[in-house]
Amino acid sequence: MAHADLYERVRQKTPVPITERDLERVLVGLLQAESLWDLVGLCDVPLAALPPLLEELQRDGLLERRGDRVSLTPSGKQLIEAQGWAPPVESRCSRCRGRGVSLEEAPYRELLERFQEISRDRPAPRQDFDQGYVTPETTVARVALLRRRGDLDGKRLLVLGDDDLVGLAAALLGTARTITVLEVDPDLVGFIRETARRLELALEVREHDLRDPLPPDLLKAFDTFTTDPVESYDGCRLFLGRGLSGLAGIGSAGYFGLTRHEASLAKWHRLQRWVVEQGAVITDCLDRFNEYVNWPYWGEMRARRWLAVEAAPQAIWYRSTLFRLELVEPKAYPNEPFAGSFEDPELATT
Ligand SMILES: [Fe+2]
Repeated sequence: MAHADLYERVRQKTPVPITERDLERVLVGLLQAESLWDLVGLCDVPLAALPPLLEELQRDGLLERRGDRVSLTPSGKQLIEAQGWAPPVESRCSRCRGRGVSLEEAPYRELLERFQEISRDRPAPRQDFDQGYVTPETTVARVALLRRRGDLDGKRLLVLGDDDLVGLAAALLGTARTITVLEVDPDLVGFIRETARRLELALEVREHDLRDPLPPDLLKAFDTFTTDPVESYDGCRLFLGRGLSGLAGIGSAGYFGLTRHEASLAKWHRLQRWVVEQGAVITDCLDRFNEYVNWPYWGEMRARRWLAVEAAPQAIWYRSTLFRLELVEPKAYPNEPFAGSFEDPELATT
């Protein structure tokens, strides 16, 4: 390969553990992307590693950049051809968009309409709480998935951090035995509580910082938890650890999201190993299940500075994989104050 040391040069410029496969992902992503935001959304490479990758590609004359526009040069295209690389061929099911649950029939079509109506006046996402919520379709699809896996109807649901309003969507459906929401943002707590009161929904919401131990009455009290963790390694273990502490025992299930934007596969590996060590098994892993509404603070996030991007994203670019775990060998989960860090070099949107 003519650019044999390209990968090594990039590795030396970033603490993010990327692989040579990531280089391939960026190059084939550039075949389809027209802008930086397109590329970020397409290529499944940690955002923090993109600036040095793009820099070195430019240095080698493989990539051309004008403002936010990016394109491969003829030698970039030649390199891809010589390697025999090709972009992934998208052929997702148009009915479920690859989520495995269709929102086109009852009761989900109506649930989505009602959910869109009640979430219209929701508080805006806050960067200081690492908020960035999913589309209404994603929230309702999560509820549909929980049901499809037998984790909602007649079950006790714990929602850990709920800027996605999963608790309200599940309460609108009304099939869970109980729904308990823990949320740190007082504005969001107020909104969820007031909406539930107004619509007479069976849902309990408590203002709670997950860095504090779980309240004693919530320990081993749930069949299912769902959460969208902070993506530092410690942050993920904190959110999942609180969820595990809340589960009743064998057969209880948990749902969580993880991105490729802010978590390298090396981080995925460490996390999955940790999950298994906690006595749980990963039963489902749904690529690009979660789609996030572009948040207003995009201009303040560090990835914007890294990439020197000029314009706001025009389409959804931030997505995450949805995982389901199930407990097979429950352990004793420590319920201590958080002593880890929400910081890590792969985080890009804080
Ligand atoms: Fe489908």
